[in-house]
Amino acid sequence: MIDTDTRALRDAFGRFATGVTVMTTREADGTPRGFTANSFSSVSLDPPLVLVCIGDNAHSGPAFCAAPYFAVNILTAEQEGIARLFASRSEHKFSDADWHEGAHGIPLLPGALATLICAQHQLVKAGDHVILIGEVLETQVTDAPALGYHRGKFITIPS
Ligand SMILES: Cc1cc2nc3c(=O)[nH]c(=O)nc-3n(C[C@H](O)[C@H](O)[C@H](O)COP(=O)(O)O)c2cc1C
Repeated sequence: MIDTDTRALRDAFGRFATGVTVMTTREADGTPRGFTANSFSSVSLDPPLVLVCIGDNAHSGPAFCAAPYFAVNILTAEQEGIARLFASRSEHKFSDADWHEGAHGIPLLPGALATLICAQHQLVKAGDHVILIGEVLETQVTDAPALGYHRGKFITIPS
C-alpha cells in the first residue's frame, strides 16, 4: 500500500471515536509491560470475551502473546498523561506511573474507569496486527468522565 492510501485509511479510521485503554501484563520473568490501545472491543457476553489488536511494531506484543493473563485498564479523562506515557517507547513506564498488583500478579492502574482481568483465550494473526482475545475473569468499575480519542486527539466523554 502506498503512503497516500495509508494516510487516507488512518483519516477514515480516525473518524471513529473510541475510549482509551492501557493493556497491562507481565513478561515470563515478571517484568511489567503495558501499552495504550484504542482498538479494544467487547466481543461476547457468554462466554465473556474482549479483544485488542496489537501492532507488529509494539515492543510489548510478544509479552502479551506469551502471557496467560492480562488486564484492560479503561482510562478516565484525568488519565491522559497515563495514556501518553503508555503510548511511548519509554522503558520506565511502570516507574513513572502508580500501579499495584492485581489477580494473577497483573499490574493494574489505580483510578481507572474500569478494570477487566482477562485470561488469554485466542490469538488471531490479522495483517500487521495480532488480535488478542481474552476471557474476562474479573471486573471493577467507577463513575467518572471517560478519556476518548477522535481524529488523533484526546477528548473528554462526559459521564
Ligand atoms: C490513543 C492511542 C491508541 C493506540 N492504540 C493502539 C492499539 O490499539 N494497538 C497498538 O498496537 N498500538 C496502539 N497504539 C500505539 C501504542 O500505544 C504504541 O505503539 C506504544 O509505543 C507501544 O508500546 P510498546 O512498544 O512498549 O509495546 C495507540 C496509541 C495511542 C496514542
